Amino acid sequence: MSDAAKLQLNGISSGYGAVDVINEVTLSVRSGEIFALMGKNGMGKTTLLKSILGLIKLTRGSVAVDEKSIAGRKPSELIACGIGYAPQEQPLFQDLSIRDNLRLALTSDRKLAAAQERVYGYFPFLKERLSQKAGTLSGGEQKMLILARALMLQPKLLLIDEISEGLQPSVVSKIADVLKHEAASNGTTILLVEQNLDFALSIADRWAVLKLGAIDDQDTNGPDSRSRVLQHLKI
Ligand SMILES: Nc1ncnc2c1ncn2[C@@H]1O[C@H](COP(=O)(O)OP(=O)(O)OP(=O)(O)O)[C@@H](O)[C@H]1O
Ligand SMILES: [Mg+2]
Repeated sequence: MSDAAKLQLNGISSGYGAVDVINEVTLSVRSGEIFALMGKNGMGKTTLLKSILGLIKLTRGSVAVDEKSIAGRKPSELIACGIGYAPQEQPLFQDLSIRDNLRLALTSDRKLAAAQERVYGYFPFLKERLSQKAGTLSGGEQKMLILARALMLQPKLLLIDEISEGLQPSVVSKIADVLKHEAASNGTTILLVEQNLDFALSIADRWAVLKLGAIDDQDTNGPDSRSRVLQHLKI
């Protein structure tokens, strides 16, 4: 991990209509770190990720990756240039097979074999059931396929939205290992949006809590982080 910002949000605001959901968020995610962004339902976590990717227009502020503004870039361009996204909603082509869902993550077949081996290494069941339609996978299997698909492009920056939702503990712990390995061995920078604070804090270098679209608290992950984050997540 280095001190250089891989992802820098400078006072960004965004929303869906007249009222902003995200309010002047400034946040720096360092190169090679796992940064956990937590917050209660409806606080704007997904909106923030979509705003980073340009899926929702900013009303204020700017987003920089590797110190370069990514304003005006199409989401598809961002994904092609090394930003991976494991979204929270409707992420898979339900009527396509695992093979085709994974293939669609790549713009060319050239890198397919190496990328596939990498994700099969992480999640062997994918290789064993290549022809199964994504829509017939269990919820947990679909989550693993979503992450596998995001990893196919060997992203340098990976945005992950509530991947642990509804997963059994052993799968959550498997995903924790995969993400730790990605950050430590490949230098992948990970912005992890999570409600599961035990999972998030088991792998995060730093964390922040989003409240009503603004950063309410943030720190390096340490012994008192769990109780501090828990206070923020109370109803
Ligand atoms: N398409 C939309 N149109 C209008 N408002 C929306 C839309 N999507 C989300 N919102 C509103 O924006 C706010 C933030 O929603 P968002 O989905 O970003 O929250 P979240 O923190 O990701 O919540 P969760 O933990 O439940 O996924 C909520 O009040 C939500 O109702
Ligand atoms: Mg969300």
